Amino acid sequence: MRIILLGPPGAGKGTQAELLSKKLGIPKISTGDLLRDEIAKGSELGIKAKKKVEKGELVDDELVFAILKNRIERDDCKKGYILDGFPRNVAQAERFYKMFNDQEELVIEISVSEDELVRRLTSRRICKKCGATYNLLFFKPRVENKCDVCGGELIRRDDDREEVIRKRFRVYEKETKPLINYYYKKGNYFRVAGDADINEIFNRIYAIIKSNMRRFAERKSDYL
Ligand code: AP5
Ligand code: MG
Ligand code: ZN
Repeated sequence: MRIILLGPPGAGKGTQAELLSKKLGIPKISTGDLLRDEIAKGSELGIKAKKKVEKGELVDDELVFAILKNRIERDDCKKGYILDGFPRNVAQAERFYKMFNDQEELVIEISVSEDELVRRLTSRRICKKCGATYNLLFFKPRVENKCDVCGGELIRRDDDREEVIRKRFRVYEKETKPLINYYYKKGNYFRVAGDADINEIFNRIYAIIKSNMRRFAERKSDYL
């Protein structure tokens, strides 16, 4: 099964994708993380993507599909995966389904107000070494400025400055939000209110997944 997490910057897509990945035993694929890895490595793709990411604009589809295709074709994705931050517009969705149309799919939107997003993102810190996510207000590391998982240094993401956050939010409203209607019509769209603590949001999402897994299993047994 494939799970797509939709939502504005700071909604908690990455946080929830990580928890779901552990619970369901399927990988999390974040196009944002993959792009940041390429940027950190200084690869040709990373150099091309860097300017757009820093400005809070969408990276060209060609680059996004190049890294995404590579990742999804790996063996660990055969049983399913969680997409965080992809697709970002209707064109990406349509192109994606021409390539990968082989899985049951749920799309879950996490909705949060703009002011709350700015508060979350200006206080977000990520581990420089392993990418784990923290928050100075809502999810502090055990030792100040050190990653609980690997001891790495905690840093701020380059695009987590208030003016870039607001730009990313506008890009979301314009480019990504039309996907809600797209998936609503497809019939596999669910929404959770994201204004609660991390565990509560997880419970809301997991409840949706569990009931749909049952439905998918019943549908499969109908064919047998
Ligand atoms: P991407 O990395 O996807 O960034 P984003 O969509 O802006 O989302 P974020 O990662 O900022 O937020 P999140 O929802 O993951 O929240 P998180 O869990 O960290 O994309 C970055 C850039 O890459 C884009 O701008 C674009 O340039 C490019 N890009 C990526 N994909 C692309 C694509 N498909 N096409 C084209 N370009 C692409 O949580 C945020 C903070 O809040 C954390 O500190 C967390 O601890 C805290 N938090 C989480 N949940 C809660 C809660 N319930 N209560 C309180 N705090 C919480
Ligand atoms: Mg993220
Ligand atoms: Zn770490």
